Amino acid sequence: MSFENLAVVTRGGIHTITVKRPAKLNALNGQTLQELYAAIIDASGDDKVRVIVLTGAGDKAFVAGADIGEIQQQSPTEARSFSAFGQNLMSMIQGLDKPVIAAINGFALGGGMELALACHLRIASDNARLGLPEIKLGIMPGFGGTQRLVRLVGSTRALELCLSGEPITAERAEQLGLVNRVVAPDQLEQAVKDMAKPLVKAAPEAVRGILQAVLQGGEINLEAGLSLETARFALCCATEDMQEGTSAFLEKRSPKFKGR
Ligand code: COA
Repeated sequence: MSFENLAVVTRGGIHTITVKRPAKLNALNGQTLQELYAAIIDASGDDKVRVIVLTGAGDKAFVAGADIGEIQQQSPTEARSFSAFGQNLMSMIQGLDKPVIAAINGFALGGGMELALACHLRIASDNARLGLPEIKLGIMPGFGGTQRLVRLVGSTRALELCLSGEPITAERAEQLGLVNRVVAPDQLEQAVKDMAKPLVKAAPEAVRGILQAVLQGGEINLEAGLSLETARFALCCATEDMQEGTSAFLEKRSPKFKGR
């Protein structure tokens, strides 16, 4: 599948989707959102893809938000559809059963920060700036940002970020638990590979189980979450990969998981 505003490449099980509108700091216009949706569906159904990486083209921005020019032209009804589409896209990313890593290589603002928050893991370059500046435009986050942010950092910090609209540094984002790691810009690609490679080799059923137990389990009461964990644990134990992983440990060798 080819795209106008995305570059897509799969290497060694790592599928990198790069948002490519550098002249507009990779802002998400309607077409780019549609392309991202199609690219994610494509990757989710491709067995060769074990890990997805999302990033932005150029060295200045991950994604500088939804396209402000397009937002300005929307009727309230169109704005509702735009928000719902963006939310669906972000929820689809978060709900994938393959790990998605955001490589935040610069500004991650508005819809760009919301995209990063929907990913499972986030690595930022130390020049990245993250924020939800919508309030400065007379609007508010509409792609799930208020909801994911409050769940990640609590209402005190979420309200400060949303109400001030001021971006924070990558270092501050790491302190708040919004990103997993901060590295120098020239180390970002390697840091993402280092995080992705073990996941490519991991047993897929274990990866799927962990994603669902942590993300869905975290949204329901403890008892229901624990039941979910038990069910997923049992599924892992039904795989050849469980036999391989435990045998490899006992035989003091590295496991070779086959995804069965
Ligand atoms: N939507 C549409 N266009 C955008 C954009 C967005 N979210 N973010 C940046 N751009 C465009 C600019 O309009 C400019 O286009 P032009 O060259 O045709 O005028 C180009 O990208 C470069 O941006 P510019 O503002 O000149 O770069 P800068 O280095 O001075 O500032 C930012 C960078 C990120 C601080 C600034 O672009 C910005 O504040 N962007 C909007 C962020 C935002 O509010 N996002 C939430 C949207 S809901």
